[in-house]
Amino acid sequence: MRLDGVSTRPDDILHSAYTMNARVFLPWVCLVPWALTAAEPKPVDVSKLPLPVARPVDFVQDVYPIFKESCISCHGPEKQKGKYRMDTREATFKDTDYGPTVVPGKSEQSSMIHMVAGLVDEMLMPPPSDKPGQSEPLTKEQIGILRAWIDQGAKWPDGPVDVEKAVTFAQDIQPIFQAACASCHGANSPQGSFNAVTLVTVLKGGENYGAVVVPGDAKKSSLITIISGLDEDLPQSEKHKLPAKQVDLVKRWISQGAK
Ligand code: HEC
Ligand code: HEC
Repeated sequence: MRLDGVSTRPDDILHSAYTMNARVFLPWVCLVPWALTAAEPKPVDVSKLPLPVARPVDFVQDVYPIFKESCISCHGPEKQKGKYRMDTREATFKDTDYGPTVVPGKSEQSSMIHMVAGLVDEMLMPPPSDKPGQSEPLTKEQIGILRAWIDQGAKWPDGPVDVEKAVTFAQDIQPIFQAACASCHGANSPQGSFNAVTLVTVLKGGENYGAVVVPGDAKKSSLITIISGLDEDLPQSEKHKLPAKQVDLVKRWISQGAK
């Protein structure tokens, strides 16, 4: 749109502002390369890194589950802390003030590895937190898996990933309930007639609460309130509290249909 020969189109305005100020801008443009070299990341002591695991690793099976468990809550579709997200390859492979996050073939030069191993000041990832169960540092084995993935070429399948590992009662949930609940909710005269160690009886529920699992809907499942230690009507509600990671797993199991 033009009024009396004056353009009001935003890109025209920008363009004329640029040409008018070219002389003012130019010296700054020349300073940029200098500024970049000045911001060289501090060297880190890579001799302290845990070793890469000595086996072929698979992105979907081995690597993304680590991202999903420990990183995506802050670097995913919902939040992008530090303007960083890890749900696509393009976004994950980023040049940061601490160096490139992932240098394929060279895990010891990859700043993501430096960060998860705590070698970058104030940048331990995930960051330490006071809340129990949250932001636990990666284990040496997990860091070894990430290193091996990068050393083996940092392969990432095309497109966004949404690999949700299948959570099953038999594999993932039963062992948790066996360890934490069986003493009171085993097969023999369980409290509240709730037997926590078989899939059929967990889905059936107990004598007072009825069904505590709504397959496909973790929010409506009172089991989640119970194992978060938040059901105050329950005798010994604190005996029902599981660590946050286990609660998450049970949530995922229910969301995936409680199979
Ligand atoms: C609880 C939230 C949280 C979790 C979980 C978390 N981060 Fe971060 N991350 C942050 C914050 C906050 C920053 C920005 C810190 C800063 O710049 O001072 C950040 C910054 C980063 C950066 C630097 C990005 C840039 O462009 O400078 C990388 C790389 C990173 N995180 C990797 C990871 C990895 C890998 C994981 C999982 C192993 C992870 N983070 C888990 C909060 C988190
Ligand atoms: C120290 C013993 C103890 C432990 C451990 C325990 N519970 Fe309980 N639980 C109880 C008691 C007592 C009741 C109340 C029974 C009643 O009302 O008669 C109860 C009730 C329940 C109910 C309600 C049953 C009903 O009446 O409908 C559920 C569901 C339940 N517990 C699940 C669990 C789960 C899951 C775990 C493991 C994470 C667990 N409990 C661990 C003692 C325990």
